[in-house]
Amino acid sequence: MVSLIRLFIFIACTVIVSSTEASRVLELSDKLLDIHKEGPWLIMMYAPWCAHCKRLEPVWAHVAQYLHSTSIRVGRIDCTRFKNVAHTFQIKGFPTIMFFKGDQQFVYNGDRTRDEIVKFALRLSGPVVQEVTRTTSFDTLKKDREVYFLYVGERSGMIWDIYHNVASIFQPHAFFYQSHPVVVDKHAPIVKTPTLFVYKENSHYNFSGHDITDRKKLNETIYKWVNAERFPTFPKVTQGNIYQLYLTGKNLVLAVVEENPLEEVSPDMLEFKDMVESVIKRKRQKYHDHFQFGWVANPELVNRIAMMVVPLPSLIVINTTTNHHYFPEDEPEKLTPHAIELFLEHIRNENAPKYGGNSFVVKIYRSWFEVKSSLVSMWQGNPILTLVLFGLPAGFLSLICYNIWCPDIFDADDEEEENAEASHKKKD
Ligand SMILES: *[C@@H]1O[C@H](CO)[C@@H](O)[C@H](O)[C@H]1NC(C)=O
Ligand SMILES: *[C@@H]1O[C@H](CO)[C@@H](O)[C@H](O)[C@H]1NC(C)=O
Ligand SMILES: *[C@@H]1O[C@H](CO)[C@@H](O)[C@H](O)[C@H]1NC(C)=O
Repeated sequence: MVSLIRLFIFIACTVIVSSTEASRVLELSDKLLDIHKEGPWLIMMYAPWCAHCKRLEPVWAHVAQYLHSTSIRVGRIDCTRFKNVAHTFQIKGFPTIMFFKGDQQFVYNGDRTRDEIVKFALRLSGPVVQEVTRTTSFDTLKKDREVYFLYVGERSGMIWDIYHNVASIFQPHAFFYQSHPVVVDKHAPIVKTPTLFVYKENSHYNFSGHDITDRKKLNETIYKWVNAERFPTFPKVTQGNIYQLYLTGKNLVLAVVEENPLEEVSPDMLEFKDMVESVIKRKRQKYHDHFQFGWVANPELVNRIAMMVVPLPSLIVINTTTNHHYFPEDEPEKLTPHAIELFLEHIRNENAPKYGGNSFVVKIYRSWFEVKSSLVSMWQGNPILTLVLFGLPAGFLSLICYNIWCPDIFDADDEEEENAEASHKKKD
């Protein structure tokens, strides 16, 4: 009887707990191993003790809410309970976000924000290249997608084959569509078919290598074009996407500012950022083959690359193949679009002073800088913990040394106390 009541209370509590959470996230078990091919599934592999997982939890609930109306099911698995799941999917850290579709599995490496995770899942859930069949759909696409690729023409021929192949490689990172001239209508400037476009900032830009007849050469050209064009003209550069930006092989031109916790940038820094953006917006043709512009809201990211604390705001250019970086000679406050253009010319002509690189000495210095900055940020984040972590062992060490080298002082103190007690007793 008692155990029945206990069971009842237990069930009631579980129901209350789960209904207050009211989350659309499915708590899964190792049954996933049997059903992961019946997806699409978007799964967070987590461990209850992991702080990053706890931080992701509210985001994950939003992701689940957002994707509720789609076919994508959003869940999570406690990998400390279901170790076989972690083992099967070779989970190396927590949280790991994975997408399952048929026989395919994808690991998410981007920023852990709702928008980025949702986009990742939406790109992968559909076919590699989605067909657009209604003209009005383009209004929605232009509104919802910051960047997308569009192939206009029949689903056959060499360009189509190559486009489809390249799309399957970049599916986690970009949206790919196909349509016909009558459907696209006025949305993109079609001269002939097939034509490839990339859409960003209200314009469709065409691919210009359609005349290449050599298959290998064409594949290489389309691959490079997609790889370089899949970013907005002036993206926010973060820990989560900088690696992808490095893969473009272009020079990164970064306006470095600082955001407060509410994601606001102070007016003077905002002005600087807009000024840098105006350079690429006005001279896209001139720069966009060799330079990818962007802005950074977390100076820490750039400090690690530059191996120094950069002033704010500032401008840095990074050669992504050699890892060299460049600073303009003018102070950031005095920079003008014209000065930036001169600076970029100097970099193109290889006569701007460069720093960093990939040499052995630089690598050593970089590691040392990283250790130093993580210690500093630890101290700033939690001085007490840092003191305990580094101070306690140091304290013990000095105690031990003290004991080894100065034992008689302790002994002497003890004797004195004893003597003092003895003299008290005598007085009594
Ligand atoms: C690409 O666009 C340019 C300018 O809009 C145009 O002159 C050219 O014919 C287009 N090329 C193709 C293949 O559509
Ligand atoms: C096309 O080029 C890319 C990049 O060079 C390569 O990874 C891919 O295998 C090529 N595809 C074909 C079908 O040759
Ligand atoms: C990066 O530097 C190398 C060596 O100086 C140079 O050959 C290359 O063109 C540079 N990259 C860009 C995108 O300018």
